[in-house]
Amino acid sequence: MKAAILTVSDKGHRGEREDHSGPALASWLAERDVEVVYTRLLADEAGAISAQLIDWADGAACDLILTTGGTGVSPRDVTPEATRAVLEREIPGIGEAMRASSLAKTPFAILSRAVTGVRGQTLIVNLPGSPAGAVENLAAVWPAVKHAVGKIQGGTSDCAPAAARPLRRA
Ligand code: MTE
Repeated sequence: MKAAILTVSDKGHRGEREDHSGPALASWLAERDVEVVYTRLLADEAGAISAQLIDWADGAACDLILTTGGTGVSPRDVTPEATRAVLEREIPGIGEAMRASSLAKTPFAILSRAVTGVRGQTLIVNLPGSPAGAVENLAAVWPAVKHAVGKIQGGTSDCAPAAARPLRRA
């Protein structure tokens, strides 16, 4: 699988804060044999975020785009809006599962408005901005993310291993 990581941070973009979330995600992915083909850091500007997502997705550069940062409720947090503007199909369950899982770690988990969905053959997933939060959220949905990437690209594998499906007889 090929992935791109977009860090969204005004402070990072101005050089006032080092980006730890992008590198944390990159090493987490590397441990799972995912090739990180692009990384970029942008300010919290919706137009620039959308343009970068379109460029990576439409250029067939990667199977998965992860964004980190800008999912909260501060006035400058626009990553969900910038992402939703370029999605063709949203997958609400991934964001719901990330928030539900993270609620066990912090009561602030539900402040992340992260969205996920499909553009072309690329899955786009918003993650929160802290390094721990970004990795925790991704880890919570990783099996579904991998399965979704295969399905988006036309995979025909069953959605559950046979052993996990109880046989029901009338
Ligand atoms: N989820 C996990 N697992 N761990 C965290 O530390 N931080 C929360 C939330 N989700 C967090 C988390 C906080 S404090 C906020 S404000 C929101 O994510 C949005 O973060 P963002 O604006 O950096 O994207």
